[in-house]
Amino acid sequence: MANRFKSDLTWGDVTPENIFLNRRAFMAGASAMAATGIAGPALAAKYSTDEEPNAWEEITQYNNFYEFGTGKSDPAEYASEMTTDPWEVEIGGLVDKPGTYSFKDIMAAMTVEERIYRFRCVEAWSMVIPWNGFELADLLNMAGIQSGAKYVAFETLHRPEEMWGQKRNFVPWPYREGLRLDEAMHPLTFMATGIYGKTIPNQNGAPMRLVVPWKYGFKSIKSIVKITLTDTQPPTSWNMINAPEYGFYSNVNPQVDHPRWSQASERRVGGGLLAKRIPTLMFNGYEKEVASLYEGMDLKKNF
Ligand code: MTE
Repeated sequence: MANRFKSDLTWGDVTPENIFLNRRAFMAGASAMAATGIAGPALAAKYSTDEEPNAWEEITQYNNFYEFGTGKSDPAEYASEMTTDPWEVEIGGLVDKPGTYSFKDIMAAMTVEERIYRFRCVEAWSMVIPWNGFELADLLNMAGIQSGAKYVAFETLHRPEEMWGQKRNFVPWPYREGLRLDEAMHPLTFMATGIYGKTIPNQNGAPMRLVVPWKYGFKSIKSIVKITLTDTQPPTSWNMINAPEYGFYSNVNPQVDHPRWSQASERRVGGGLLAKRIPTLMFNGYEKEVASLYEGMDLKKNF
């Protein structure tokens, strides 16, 4: 079942883009690849939505990546200035094997698969994105989680000479995010390194970005260079900027409105301006998988 891809493979070698072109073709491709014993599509079926994915152009031209400006098309315009090779990730804190890991070495050790996830931004737009990548749990297990660890903190690259938005300080750089350890270890929690079988574009968070599909998109931190296991809840960028509006948990929840707008519905990008909004689902539709993580918690207080 487990298939260790060598680091010199590109996603194009692993998954032909055309298997995603429509859902029927995807399923045909998935069963064909499952028959050959490749882990990806067989596992993808377990966790993936069967909703139609957004087009490559929508996923890669309509972005939030404030290091490159606040406009939706800024990341696609400026993110090519970021150097992503070589790339190193410092893994530290409460782990057995702290150190600086090269992206190539990480990829050589991980099992790559596809996950087609709904993605819901706190701004109330959404997409369906076919990611390639690996479970965050596999990376954390590789580093060896120590018994005192309760949270995982993440940081994005800080390199103002390549990321002009970092010359303005409306975000306390570097961009920071965090998860409780059980959230981080959940099998849905993913490190994306590709989209549609291709290397993930810089504007989407190359070479490696978090994807937590039941949380608002801002938790899915891009271009990660540092992962730290801690015993205390780490500070997170949007919470530091505006705590009353952006909580640490930020689970998608149609019953808890943003102070300035409703979270009950969303606009699916690509649907056209006149398209009807669709209802937002509890935990972005992943309630069955993740609700138990929050049993007994008041989700209005812990928003
Ligand atoms: N990560 C970093 N480093 N900087 C950012 O500005 N924006 C977040 C998140 N991760 C952001 C980030 C927000 S608000 C969203 S909605 C998603 O990235 C957008 O991901 P996408 O552009 O791939 O759709």
